[in-house]
Amino acid sequence: MRNMNLHRHHHGGVSFTALLFIILSVFAPLGHASSSPILSELNGPKLRHSRLFKSALQHQVSDEQLSDIWAPLSNQGWKPFVESTVTSAPMPESSGYIQVFLDGGLNQQRMGICDAVAVAKILNATLVIPYLEVNPVWQDTSSFEDIFDVDHFVNLLKDDISIIRELPDEYAWSTREYYASAIRSTRVKNAPLHASLNWYLENVYPVLESYGIAAISPFSHRLAFDNMPIEIQRLRCKVNFEALVFVPHVRNLGEALVSRLRYPIVESIDAVGTKYLRQVVDTKSGHGAGKFVSLHLRFDKDMAAHSACDFGGGKAEKLALAKYRQTIWQGRVMNSRFTDEELRNQGRCPLTPEEIGLLLAALGFDNSTRLYLASHKVYGGEARISALRQLFPYMEDKKSLASSAERAQIKGKASLSAAVDYYVSMHSDIFISASPGNMHNAMLGHRTYLNMKTIRPNMVLLGQIFMNKSMSWSDFQEAVVEGQRNRLGEIKERKPKQSIYTYPVPDCVCQQLGV
Ligand SMILES: *[C@@H]1O[C@H](CO)[C@@H](O)[C@H](O)[C@H]1NC(C)=O
Ligand SMILES: *[C@@H]1O[C@H](CO)[C@@H](O)[C@H](O)[C@H]1NC(C)=O
Ligand SMILES: *[C@@H]1O[C@H](CO)[C@@H](O)[C@H](O)[C@H]1NC(C)=O
Repeated sequence: MRNMNLHRHHHGGVSFTALLFIILSVFAPLGHASSSPILSELNGPKLRHSRLFKSALQHQVSDEQLSDIWAPLSNQGWKPFVESTVTSAPMPESSGYIQVFLDGGLNQQRMGICDAVAVAKILNATLVIPYLEVNPVWQDTSSFEDIFDVDHFVNLLKDDISIIRELPDEYAWSTREYYASAIRSTRVKNAPLHASLNWYLENVYPVLESYGIAAISPFSHRLAFDNMPIEIQRLRCKVNFEALVFVPHVRNLGEALVSRLRYPIVESIDAVGTKYLRQVVDTKSGHGAGKFVSLHLRFDKDMAAHSACDFGGGKAEKLALAKYRQTIWQGRVMNSRFTDEELRNQGRCPLTPEEIGLLLAALGFDNSTRLYLASHKVYGGEARISALRQLFPYMEDKKSLASSAERAQIKGKASLSAAVDYYVSMHSDIFISASPGNMHNAMLGHRTYLNMKTIRPNMVLLGQIFMNKSMSWSDFQEAVVEGQRNRLGEIKERKPKQSIYTYPVPDCVCQQLGV
């Protein structure tokens, strides 16, 4: 029954919801919602699950639950694949230059970089350091060199492919502007999604042969994950997990944040009443460094609008999000064909800060948990975050942990800021994301590769149980624990069509003997 419904909405053109949004946006002239104090989207959302929330505030966690949830993953019988350095065959003669222009945010561009190296290898071409396009939402103009340690990148891959930072003078004409202004024979613009190895040999190699250069754009998601030689798969892993490291200032800031999370600085008062700052060593565990969870919360307006879910901010919020959809996507947003209930049933709504707080509490995290909020901007601001902060008072972020002077180099730079979050999240004991997007996938892949714990929220189950307003805390907790079984870090092997960057087992690893 439900499937039939979905089917109808999917193909039946404009659904009731979409129609409603169109009507609303026609009758809500620009600026109206934000100028009226009563209808302001910034009035702040109310708690949507106040009964559960009240119980969560009082919930007790047993020592056994605590030690279970914090326990690191056990050895799963494999380790990262590391190639032997003995057999480095001489590099074949270069067939020409490969240039790519990468869309998306940091994590999508990261996958594009890995695929670009693989394509250069397939074609025996020389790779030009990829060009990172400015994303219209995030507006960060940082280049590859501004984000990644380019020397490390070139050096680590020197036996695999040749990489150059800039084209030689004779090809200097091959720029983004050149391709933007007219149709050019050196541009490959028809690469299909998940193109095969043969597609590149048949369609791009001839361009290299004729012109000595091929500029591929768009390039995101243009290389298949299946039916690739194992060397190419391993090269993609090597790029993603070994060759791409951030520039020193990002790593240093990340390291400072990690250290302050593990050894928090608190204000104390000594015997004679003088205040001083001290670093707390040794929390419950008695083992020195404290543990922390990194929580990725992408809940900006763009995401909220695109998901088309109702996040409890009332009529003003609905109007504001519909208006945003109208402005940015001319209202053509797939999800807005569905009702909120349908979206929740399909697990398509990102968890709100309140919901992720309830999830963490139900999983057995108590209010002494140190939480790092890996997040750019939260739509609804502090009003929306405060529910989570009430449940987890030891919640930190870049701003609370580092001074504005320390953050000066990343200020206003969404990609660099995301890079810092990536670094901190890679060093957390546990990672969890409130929405299964690019950051979630990147972390899941990278942390799996290093056998680190990552919680994968069961979005379908959570969408459904959060709709049930009559659930008691104990039923909720039971349903969560049941629904998260085998989603608390257990390894999932890659299935056909899935991304090697999200599921690096088995392609990127090898069996560990003696386990
Ligand atoms: C944690 O919760 C307990 C009740 O379960 C409460 O007594 C305590 O004050 C809370 N701690 C913090 C830091 O909020
Ligand atoms: C790339 O070089 C290798 C080794 O020289 C060769 O076997 C292969 O055919 C070349 N591939 C292309 C597309 O030229
Ligand atoms: C809500 O949850 C309760 C258990 O707490 C269950 O008995 C009830 O059937 C659920 N309602 C719906 C509509 O799923």
